[in-house]
Amino acid sequence: MAFQKPTGTQDLLPGTVEKWQFIEDKARDVCRRYNYKEVRTPIFEQTSLFERGVGETTDVVEKEMYTFTDKGDRSMTLRPEGTAGVVRAYVENKLYGEPNVSKLYYIGPMFRYERPQAGRQRQFHQFGIEAFGATDPAIDAEVVALGYQFCRELGLQDVKVEINSVGNAESRAAYRQTLLDFLTPMKDTLCKDCQSRMERNPLRVLDCKVDQEKFVNAPSILESLDEECSTHFAKVQELLTAMEVEFVINPRLVRGLDYYTHTAFEYKAQGIGAIDTIGGGGRYNGLVSEVGGPDQPGIGMAIGLERIALILEKQEIEISGIRPLDIYLVALGDAADKEVTIQLAKLRQAGISADRDYLGRKIKAQMKSADRMQAKFTAILGDDELERGEITLKSMETGEQRIVKLSDLAEELKK
Ligand code: HAM
Repeated sequence: MAFQKPTGTQDLLPGTVEKWQFIEDKARDVCRRYNYKEVRTPIFEQTSLFERGVGETTDVVEKEMYTFTDKGDRSMTLRPEGTAGVVRAYVENKLYGEPNVSKLYYIGPMFRYERPQAGRQRQFHQFGIEAFGATDPAIDAEVVALGYQFCRELGLQDVKVEINSVGNAESRAAYRQTLLDFLTPMKDTLCKDCQSRMERNPLRVLDCKVDQEKFVNAPSILESLDEECSTHFAKVQELLTAMEVEFVINPRLVRGLDYYTHTAFEYKAQGIGAIDTIGGGGRYNGLVSEVGGPDQPGIGMAIGLERIALILEKQEIEISGIRPLDIYLVALGDAADKEVTIQLAKLRQAGISADRDYLGRKIKAQMKSADRMQAKFTAILGDDELERGEITLKSMETGEQRIVKLSDLAEELKK
């Protein structure tokens, strides 16, 4: 019986994986410049962490979690996103005790049971950052700017940032009522999902794809913000403008997870069919205390790497992916064969990438392999040459050949 990968997952094979390495290297490099440090948290956590953190009425928690009971009869869940686990780690390891703002980043797989389509997988990967301990709008602007810079430096065209403020608990409660006053008269005309959301989580109604045009005249959350929220939001915009991050305000932007307060934002780009959101994030000033920590503010964002990879392909952005092999060695005869093994070990220790044939194939087939590996040099070692302690080095780019001493091979290749 032949096995198949689970629906909504991907095998990243050589040839493609180099693109991923390039994207991940870029993420690490941008984080280094912004002084964010990597964290690696478990891929599964207690189910209740996500129920409390992400929110019980969100689609993610209600419909999409991979939840299982372990052999100790505990309910565990494969992480559907990165923030809740990082917040848990921040609290559990008491990182709040440090005098600085904790600036953390992560790259890794997340799991959501969704209907797969281009850019939507059941196992997908996020690059995310989280900054704890500061309410300064400068950190909001920094987080938005970091993700934007990551996309821009990868070469993505036309990345747009949309931002909104979802206010604090009080202004959200006020808005909730205003919105309900607007929605109630049209309740019977709305889809089933909207009707149930109206009762449980009215802000999420605005995110409905089916009923979108009915909400053109919906009241804006920005009108319900109190002074503190408005001032914070104005300052974030001022800083983003000063940092030359292009953004538009979208007062309808409500994120799919419940923990947001104040700044909420998304990165958008064209190229993956119906999906145009490549990442998103926002402030979550109540989340740390919600999962049992002190009252510390936080803000972060995450970008989907499958979506980045798809857009890079769609926009035909070349990625210097495949790393060529430095040298492919060919042996003629038994003694040469052993020497090739010795030489390979020496070259690899000297930092040179080197390979050979292990299938006893003819020279012609070996040369084809060297070609496929994009070897910069090949060298054929026969027993005669071995006796003289020499080898013929051939540049695959120019075709030029030269004889070099076996003992100098690594030095010659480093030139
Ligand atoms: P999110 O908007 O749920 O936010 O996900 C962020 C990104 O992950 C999405 O924009 C998308 O690129 C990618 N993504 C989500 N689901 C899938 C999927 N099924 N297949 C492929 N890609 C997907 C969060 O997860 C928050 N934790 C972000 C955040 C960090 N907020 C504050 N800090």
